[in-house]
Amino acid sequence: MTRICFVCLGNICRSPTAEAVMGHLVAAEGLESEVQVESAGTGGWHVGEPPDPRAVAEARRRGLAMDGTGRRFEPWDFDDYDLVIAMDGSNRSDLVDMAPDATAASKVRLLREFDPDADRLDDLDVPDPYGGGPEGFARVFEMVESACRGLLDEIRRPA
Ligand code: 4NP
Repeated sequence: MTRICFVCLGNICRSPTAEAVMGHLVAAEGLESEVQVESAGTGGWHVGEPPDPRAVAEARRRGLAMDGTGRRFEPWDFDDYDLVIAMDGSNRSDLVDMAPDATAASKVRLLREFDPDADRLDDLDVPDPYGGGPEGFARVFEMVESACRGLLDEIRRPA
């Protein structure tokens, strides 16, 4: 079993999108018993809230449902996951700073490292869409989808 937690800042836009996209890809391959997908945020402003309606609308437009409620990633959460996948470099450094030990820190990765085109990208951040318009949410969805396909391929690759 590979246990994944996607982490952004608010846990209402990017990481719930990644959770929904990855959950869909995992289910489409019948891998639900092998890959577990969750999400959280480094900030606490939206704990207990549903995902941002703009992220929900973008996902629905592409045939995916989004659910869950915002929660904060805490240092002890590292024990529950094999991969803690940050949406941008700021989330990544917050997670590494919070990691209780080197084993925990080594679980932190950037989502777009898994994009099949990662070596041709000069920026591996999934940009925070919260303060912008709907096109930001469409961009987030596309980046997340491409990287999650790469992530699933990586997980399925024999060690
Ligand atoms: P997310 O977007 O990190 O993709 O969920 C944000 C949502 C809320 C805030 C920041 C980013 N906020 O500052 O409230």
